[in-house]
Amino acid sequence: MKIPFIDILRYEKNFLETVTERTAALLKNGHFVGGPVIAEFETSLKNYTQTQFALGCANGTDAIQLALRAAGVNKNDGVLIPDMTFWATFEAVVNVGATPFTIDVSKETLHVTLQSVKEGVEKFKPKALILVHLYGHACPETIEIRKYCTEKNIVLVEDCAQAIGVKINGESLLTNAFVATTSFYPAKVLGASGDAGGIFTTSAELAATTTKLLNHGRTSHYEHGLIGWNSRVGAYESTFLVESIKHIEARLDSRRETCERYRKEIKNPALKFITPASNVTENGYLAVATMTPESRPAFIEYLKSNDIGYGTVYPGAMSEQPGAKGHIGGKISHGHADWIAKSVINLPCFAYMTKAEVDYVIEKVNQYK
Ligand SMILES: Cc1ncc(COP(=O)(O)O)c(C=O)c1O
Repeated sequence: MKIPFIDILRYEKNFLETVTERTAALLKNGHFVGGPVIAEFETSLKNYTQTQFALGCANGTDAIQLALRAAGVNKNDGVLIPDMTFWATFEAVVNVGATPFTIDVSKETLHVTLQSVKEGVEKFKPKALILVHLYGHACPETIEIRKYCTEKNIVLVEDCAQAIGVKINGESLLTNAFVATTSFYPAKVLGASGDAGGIFTTSAELAATTTKLLNHGRTSHYEHGLIGWNSRVGAYESTFLVESIKHIEARLDSRRETCERYRKEIKNPALKFITPASNVTENGYLAVATMTPESRPAFIEYLKSNDIGYGTVYPGAMSEQPGAKGHIGGKISHGHADWIAKSVINLPCFAYMTKAEVDYVIEKVNQYK
């Protein structure tokens, strides 16, 4: 058996037919930019995430930049970010002219802690924090960190590129976020047929500014009140996403089941699975475990020899990326991000993996010595 790390083409019956029909209609009506499908997409997104304002944009990196800009983060402001994230979080800060400062993450949860945020705030006095919810989990101390940022008047942007569908205490993670962003990159749990992103907020003012920023700062067709750029979401991607949202919970349930089976049925002590906090419902984006830097290379060879795909998300700390030089303002490191980068292992996980595929992965990992 050959198990890919990810297969994004396992659709529901009739999904492709519906998308194809709607795409053909789009080709005939010519609503390629803007138009009714964008409004339909934003409404389904708002309903699904239970947010007050939901806006589409061009991609998840733009979404972070838009959120930072709309929240008033500008040139020379400091922004705290986790040292373990996808590079886009770092890039977004630099691209708005601000300075990134990295803080370390926990080796147990792989997320930042309230304590590490407090240390970063005290040391670097940032204007903003980007809290990144990785692996389809939520940062375990999200509620405490939100409260702390409100008290300290720190702009909190939540990067939920991997966290659509995640719940805290049974409620959408996005509902109470001041401003959260996501990516609809095809490999995400809610993937588009191209690039797309989303911004979610509780603030009408922030939503209004974001709407302008992502469309050339427009206040009317040829009147520009702000320097923005073109980050409009496309009509094809929106069509695909509107139809995908109709199936999202079934897709997430399938992923969650795989993650749960791995955690319960893999007994090999070489792997330590990371479990979301008890009040968090994951979305099953990634099945994530840690090993040791010494044990991982041989295990990877074993997976390869058994035709099992794998991931090592992420292969390096942000502060150590070559591109960070000359941009990073400072860092607090206990070596955890670096350790995680060398120790993390992701097993195959995607919507509608078959029982036989999951059985095979579990059996092979359990047989590994
Ligand atoms: C945590 C995180 N932030 C930001 C992004 C950027 O999203 P995009 O690739 O849509 O720009 C990604 C996606 O890869 C991500 O995983």
